[in-house]
Amino acid sequence: MHSSSDDGPDLRKEWLHQRTNGALSRFHDRTPLIYRKRIEVPQQVTEWVAGWGGGSLFLTGAIGVGKTHTAWETCRLWLKAFYGPDRPWNGAANIYTYRSTALFDALRPDGPDEIRRTLIKTLQEADLVYIDDLAAAKVTEWTQERLFEIFDERYINQRPVIVTSDVLPPNLGPVTGPRVASRLGEMCQGSIVLMEGDDRRKQVAA
Ligand SMILES: Nc1ncnc2c1ncn2[C@@H]1O[C@H](COP(=O)(O)OP(=O)(O)OP(=O)(O)O)[C@@H](O)[C@H]1O
Ligand SMILES: [Mg+2]
Repeated sequence: MHSSSDDGPDLRKEWLHQRTNGALSRFHDRTPLIYRKRIEVPQQVTEWVAGWGGGSLFLTGAIGVGKTHTAWETCRLWLKAFYGPDRPWNGAANIYTYRSTALFDALRPDGPDEIRRTLIKTLQEADLVYIDDLAAAKVTEWTQERLFEIFDERYINQRPVIVTSDVLPPNLGPVTGPRVASRLGEMCQGSIVLMEGDDRRKQVAA
């Protein structure tokens, strides 16, 4: 019979294993169907996940190269690494994923103030925020100010974001406002991944 001191590490290992699987399974359930398929990610992405330096990741490239799919897979790998044995115990991971259009809509001034404030605070404090197609949405000065609140808080606390966009940070000013674009440039320094290749949708259709 094992003594309780022998059981301790095994029970902990089992508990950690279940915790990781539970988190990955919940994330899988909220991943859009076509992005659930496991794909290879560029080496820069693997290095970003392994580096854990508090930096952010920027995936750019032409239409259909695989930015969004890569970002979902990156979130999954990040989540797995979050619960990895080398990482300090940080509670449960919060990942928020948004299309820019839905995010900008949610930040509009015409909705209830309290709901918007709660969203801003949530996105300021989340462990990881992923915004898809940042340059795709139309923006107002009001939205830019709310985006600044979110990004500045994440910037000063070195909390990561993953952004996909066909426009690079230095040219994002007209969308995000110049202060967010400047911060994003620094946050993603060394982790701007240019994805190249043809439109994969055309390959599927061929
Ligand atoms: N590495 C990959 N391996 C296999 N299929 C992939 C890979 N990356 C993306 N795909 C597939 O290619 C198609 C386009 O991918 P995705 O939607 O990520 O492109 P995108 O760059 O975000 O396009 P857009 O600029 O229009 O938003 C999808 O069907 C996706 O599942
Ligand atoms: Mg996309």
